[in-house]
Amino acid sequence: MTNRGTSLDPWYDSYAQRTAGLSASEVRALFAVASRPEVVSLAGGMPYVSALPRELIHASLDRVMGDDLAMALQYGGGQGLRSLREHIVDIMALEGVRASAEDVVVTTGSQHALDLLTRLFIDPGDVILAESPSYVGAIGIFRSYQAETVHVAMDAEGLIPESLRETIASLRTRGKRIKFLYTIPNFHNPAGVTLSRERRIEILDICRSNGILVLEDNPYGLLWFDHPAPQAIRSIDDEGVVYLGSFSKTLAPGFRVGWALAPHAIREKLVLANESAVLAPNSFGQYVINAYLDAADWKGQVDTFRGLYAERRDAMLAGLREFLPDLSWTEPDGGFFVWLTLPESLNAKAMLPRAVKELVAYTPGTAFYADGRGGQHIRLSFCYPTPEQIRVGVKRLATVVNDELELLDTFGSATRPTPVVRPASVGAPPTDVA
Ligand SMILES: Cc1ncc(COP(=O)(O)O)c(C=O)c1O
Repeated sequence: MTNRGTSLDPWYDSYAQRTAGLSASEVRALFAVASRPEVVSLAGGMPYVSALPRELIHASLDRVMGDDLAMALQYGGGQGLRSLREHIVDIMALEGVRASAEDVVVTTGSQHALDLLTRLFIDPGDVILAESPSYVGAIGIFRSYQAETVHVAMDAEGLIPESLRETIASLRTRGKRIKFLYTIPNFHNPAGVTLSRERRIEILDICRSNGILVLEDNPYGLLWFDHPAPQAIRSIDDEGVVYLGSFSKTLAPGFRVGWALAPHAIREKLVLANESAVLAPNSFGQYVINAYLDAADWKGQVDTFRGLYAERRDAMLAGLREFLPDLSWTEPDGGFFVWLTLPESLNAKAMLPRAVKELVAYTPGTAFYADGRGGQHIRLSFCYPTPEQIRVGVKRLATVVNDELELLDTFGSATRPTPVVRPASVGAPPTDVA
């Protein structure tokens, strides 16, 4: 039997089963529209790289173009540039992690580290535990390796240890194989919350006693506003935790350089997997970042980013208090995101076309669940728009929410037709995935 009749793709029958998990985001078409300048996008998680002085990057490039050029243009080692790995060890020390450059593996963004680790650990049907909600890009990877992602409840202090215990027990009763817990303890994407110190210890204890590896994904840790986050989970345990870091938020995502710090045995496999996937991570990007970390005031630059994002967070919280005072939301102490809860009667995904028509975009909560939940939630990003744009965007969002509620009051259901939006343009930035 052929499926050609159901698809224009002549290779439809040839794809591997796991590609069934590769799906374009349902809201990507809308985001292409939302990237028009008149729309205030509170959707994407793009760092505000314009705050990075050009001279800093220029100086690093100059050095690479001189002394390092031949090496920067060459293939490198599968584990990454040694001197960059030494810098990475110093960076992780800022969050309490003691490590050796031997155990660091440089990857193509932390996204690739996540992919490689999933490849190393997951057979189809294995379970990955993740916060409820969790990072959309991780859920996509887990799906593409045919893992079952099971969400564990969280609250304002992050993942709830008791829920973790119960979830593990219930999965074990059903004979499921749990491979790892994927957690974003600091300034969570999308929830904006931070895991308390006490819970870090308890969660680690639960995972240890159940033989479950912890994958600690920490791209936002240095971007704190009022207080630094508690020390990394990896600072408490060298053996049971793989730590993922990234230069995407503290420098720029365009370099596509991140890393994994793994226990010795896992690290060896990770290097092999890295070599098999890409031979070696991007040499040029690594050399530029290495030169930047050698010579630039990079900590001062991180302070600049922190100040800028804190101001934007304040603008968003002030806007929410002013325009949507009856709703509830998280109050992040760092990172890029606020998690907004809508009244039960509203659905964030259904409402999005109307929001885009009102010239504001957001990411519906359904993107952050593997199981279809999240309709009552919205992720709002404050990293990219200016404080003034954020205020305008939240005001527009309030108009949409209030109109929807009014409509429900009048007719009992949202009867207005969904506005038509232009389809996605090819090459639109993937503003919904970060
Ligand atoms: C929680 C989380 N993990 C990983 C990534 C991927 O980052 P990178 O650019 O290092 O691949 C992101 C990007 O937004 C993220 O939010």
